[in-house]
Amino acid sequence: MCGIVGYVGCRPAAPILLEGLARLEYRGYDSAGIAVANGRASLQVVKKAGKIQVLRQQLNENCPEGTVGIGHTRWATHGEPTDNNAHPHLDCSAGLGVVHNGIIENYLELRRELGRKGHRFTSDTDTEVIPHLLEELYDADLLRAILQARRYLDGSYAMVAVSTREPGVLVATRQDSPLVIGLGQGEYWVASDIPALLPYTRQVAVLENGETAVLGRGGMQVFGPAGERKSGRSFQVNWELAAAEKGGYPHFMLKEIFEQPEALRQTMAGRLAGPRADLSAEVALTPDFLQELRQVVVVACGTAYHAGLVGGSIIQRHLRLPVRVELASEFRYSDPLIDRQTLAIAISQSGETADTLAAVELCRQRGAKVLAITNVVGSTLAREAEATLYTRAGPEIAVASTKAYLTQLLALNIFYLWLGEIRSVLSRDYMETIVKSLQSLPGQVQEILEGADQVAETAGELAGREDVYFIGRGLDYAVAMEGALKLKEISYIHAESLASGELKHGTLALISRGMPVVALATQKHILEKNLSNIKEARARGGRIIVVTPFAGPDPGPAGESLPEPAGAADVAAVADRVLRVPLAPEELMPSLAAVPLQLLAYYAAVARGCDVDQPRNLAKSVTVE
Ligand code: AGP
Repeated sequence: MCGIVGYVGCRPAAPILLEGLARLEYRGYDSAGIAVANGRASLQVVKKAGKIQVLRQQLNENCPEGTVGIGHTRWATHGEPTDNNAHPHLDCSAGLGVVHNGIIENYLELRRELGRKGHRFTSDTDTEVIPHLLEELYDADLLRAILQARRYLDGSYAMVAVSTREPGVLVATRQDSPLVIGLGQGEYWVASDIPALLPYTRQVAVLENGETAVLGRGGMQVFGPAGERKSGRSFQVNWELAAAEKGGYPHFMLKEIFEQPEALRQTMAGRLAGPRADLSAEVALTPDFLQELRQVVVVACGTAYHAGLVGGSIIQRHLRLPVRVELASEFRYSDPLIDRQTLAIAISQSGETADTLAAVELCRQRGAKVLAITNVVGSTLAREAEATLYTRAGPEIAVASTKAYLTQLLALNIFYLWLGEIRSVLSRDYMETIVKSLQSLPGQVQEILEGADQVAETAGELAGREDVYFIGRGLDYAVAMEGALKLKEISYIHAESLASGELKHGTLALISRGMPVVALATQKHILEKNLSNIKEARARGGRIIVVTPFAGPDPGPAGESLPEPAGAADVAAVADRVLRVPLAPEELMPSLAAVPLQLLAYYAAVARGCDVDQPRNLAKSVTVE
C-alpha cells in the first residue's frame, strides 16, 4: 500500500505535494519523491529512499518550481526501498511521469516487450512499465494513452500521470486501489486517501473503479473504461484529520482488521496460476533443494509464531515432511539439530525482531537455507535470508498484528501448495480445491466483517471479566493461542489458551460459574472429541462462546438463511453464544476463525477504555532481545 498525490492549479506544487505525502505517510514510508512540470521538456524529479523527512531536506536544498506535479510515498512490494526504485517513474524522454499504488501482475511480460522496443528501465519496480507503456501509446493525448494502457495492465492500480507535452493537466485512473479528488476554485488535488486533501478542500469526489479523470484545463472530466463521459459525484468531508488518517475508523487496528480482504487479494495476486501455486519467479530456492530437503524448522515470535504453528502443521500433515515450529527466543539457545537439508522458515511482519534474526543466524551457521516470510521489503530479515516471500498487507500501524497474521497464513498456504507440487505429493484435484478456496477467502472474511456487530455484543460480556480461556484442538489450538494473545495484549484481561484435551488435566479446576470459555470448533475430523471437551467446561458453569462454521446465525447480510451443516445441532447445544464463520477446507479455517477473535479483542479493549493501537509496555517491533 502506498500514498500518491497530485496537484494542478495556480500555486507552487512542490510544497503541496510534500504536505500531502506527509499526511499519507501511514500508508507507506520507505521512500518518497515528487515530479513537477515547469515548462521544460523534462519533468523536475526529486526522490529519495527513507521517510518523508529525507525528501523534505532534499527539497529544502533544491525545490523544483511549477504548479503541476505528482508525488508518492512508498511501501515496497517489488524492488528494494532505494532512490532509484522510489516513485515517480519516468518514460525514456523524462517528460512523462507516473506515481502508482498497487501491483502490476504482468509487469515482467510488459517489461520484456517494451525492452524489445528499445525502452530503457532504471528500476526494479513493477510500476516502471507504466510510463514506458504510456510513451509507447502516446499520441499527444495522455487521456487516450491511459485508456489504452488500461487494456494491457493486469492487477491493481491507482495512478496519476503528468506530461510536459500537456501542460496544466493531470490524468488519474484506478483499478481496485483507491483514489479521491479534491475540488477547488480552478485547482484540483488527487490522492490515495482523504487526509492529503483536508488542508485545502473538503469538497471531494471519489473515482470509481475503472474510471479515469482529467484534471485541469479549467475543470474535472471523468471517463469510463471505454472513454464514455461519466458524471463526477462530489461530497463534503466532515472528518477531522486524525480520524481521516484512520480512514474514518476510530483506531488503526480496526482499519487494519477491515483491510484484511484487500490484504489477502494483494498477497495472492500473481501467485495462484490456474489450479496451482507458483512462486518460482520470486522464491529463490532451487527445485533440487526443495525436493531433497529433509526437515522444516519454523522460527518466529508472538503472532508470527502462531501463524507458523498453523503453516507448519499443514506442511507436515500434507507433505509428510518433519516440521518443528519453535519460539525464536527459545530456539536460539536450544542447540538445535539443523543441517544442510533443513529449510528454516522465519516469519516476521517487521523483519526486524531480534530473537527471530538471531534464530536465523544460528540456522544459517548450521547450514540451513532460510526462507523469510515478511511484510517489509528490504528489512533485515529479507536481506539475511536466501529467499523471501513477501506478504503484501501494507503498513501495519497498530501494535496488535491482524492483517499481517492473515497474510502470513496465506503466504504459508501458497508456499505449501508450491512445495507439495515440487515434491509431487499433492494431487491436482487437491491443489485445485485449495486454490479455489484461497481465492474465496477475501469474500468470506468480508462476510465475517459484515457481522462485526454481533461480535461486539459478545465482546461486551468479556470486557467485565478478568480471566478468559481459549480452547481448541489441532489447528484450532493454534488459533486459540492467537485469540488469547490478541485479547490480553490490548485489553489487559488475563487470557490463556489451552488444548481442549488438556482441560481435564488441571485447568478445569479454574472454570467457575460464568467463566468465559472461547471454544474454537472448526476442524471437522476432531469435532466430536472437541465437543466433549467443551461440554466438560460447560458442565462446570463455563460460559461457552463457540467459533464455528457448523452452527449458529449466518454472519453475513441479515436474513440469509443457510442450511445447517452436519454437526450443527451438537455444536449449538453446547454453546451459549455462536460466532459463525463461513465453511472452508480445514487447512484454511484458521484464516477465518481468527477474524472474530480479532474483533472480540478489539471491542473488549475499547469497552475497557484501553489504548488499542499502542497498548502499555509493548512496541510494534521488538528489536531488542
Ligand atoms: C502481535 O499482535 C504482537 N504485536 C507481537 O506478538 C508480534 O507478533 C511479535 O513481536 C513478532 O513481531 P514480528 O512479526 O514483527 O516479528
